Amino acid sequence: MKSKISTAVSQIPLSGIREMWKRAAEYDNYISLGIGEPDFNTPKEICHQALEDAVRGATHYTQSQGDPELIEAIQRYLLERLGEDLSTGQIVVTTGGVGGLTSFFRTVLNPGDEVLLPEPYFPPYRHNIEWVGGKAVHVQTSFENSFVPTPEALEAAITPSSKVLVLNSPNNPTGAVIPAETLDNIARIVLERDLLVLSDEVYERLLFDGRTQESIWKRPGMNERTVVVHSFSKSFAMTGWRIGYAFGPEWLIESMIKVVSSTTSCAPSVSQRAAVAALRLDAEVIDAMVEEFRVRRDHAYEVLEQLPGVRVHKPGGTFYMFPDIGQITQDSRQFALDLLKEEQVVVVPGETFGPSGKGCVRVALTVNQEVLKEALERIRRFIRHIS
Ligand SMILES: Cc1ncc(COP(=O)(O)O)c(C=O)c1O
Repeated sequence: MKSKISTAVSQIPLSGIREMWKRAAEYDNYISLGIGEPDFNTPKEICHQALEDAVRGATHYTQSQGDPELIEAIQRYLLERLGEDLSTGQIVVTTGGVGGLTSFFRTVLNPGDEVLLPEPYFPPYRHNIEWVGGKAVHVQTSFENSFVPTPEALEAAITPSSKVLVLNSPNNPTGAVIPAETLDNIARIVLERDLLVLSDEVYERLLFDGRTQESIWKRPGMNERTVVVHSFSKSFAMTGWRIGYAFGPEWLIESMIKVVSSTTSCAPSVSQRAAVAALRLDAEVIDAMVEEFRVRRDHAYEVLEQLPGVRVHKPGGTFYMFPDIGQITQDSRQFALDLLKEEQVVVVPGETFGPSGKGCVRVALTVNQEVLKEALERIRRFIRHIS
């Protein structure tokens, strides 16, 4: 019967994240640095407001584009963040950031269209590109250039079939932030080659050391050909609410709304009410979460950079680190499996996120400082043992 599963779906490999998760379940006392979600619960103010609104009756379908009050709140938020007054027709509310990116690919891709995908990358991009017959074309990055896609590597990957460029900054899995000047150069290539851009900015609030979000959207000519994906999952610790949104040119968002309408009808209405409350939240609540991730990052960086055979960048954003263990072993899957077996710590093999991740592992700083300290000590002991 299994042969009845579609080729596209049966070709999805078991994800490195799921594999590690499954194996970790065999141990009682493991520490997971594998999970890509904040360990904090959703701020109470958001939960209370959503509950109140649900009791009041906000439990019905909304318009496919989204609850008008949420769209207005997003407009205000974007005015503050981007300094730009978007029209309501430029915004669509989605089922998480994933809802935004899947609707985008369905909206623009025809079979055979190529999507330029800098790697390492968030694996669902690839699946969603391939499910609609698109082709993911890797744009290589490296530890040496901080896992930032260079304009040269991008040019080299472009063919006459290239239609879309995916950018993800701050990045999962590396935590890399694309510098402003690189975005300027990439935008010039995008214009010259008449590409569309999907800019995944779901980590836009999780930036450290005084950085503010730099978006390709703000570069000349880009707002006619770029869709930006935002999410409440990471910034507001709302992963389970499945709520996000996308903004872009009206001509494109109009068609994305048709896709949302035919796939999910609309984003969950109670979650949309929660999102309205999230956008009213005092910025200090978010800043406190970001500061906690910053402290964890600094501590993890201090420990990891001292380990023999390990190279690591200090990420500019997110809650991920992507140490290179290539001098110890190129087989990061085996490294992760042995680390789990010997020290019960879960990390994710880098090649889960594309070939540039080979010889690296993703470490998620999604446990409290005390647990993180213990996990890092176990990693130190493991590396000393195998070196
Ligand atoms: C780069 C990136 N984009 C999008 C998402 C989707 O998140 P959500 O659908 O929860 O908003 C994730 C989640 O891990 C991610 O890492």
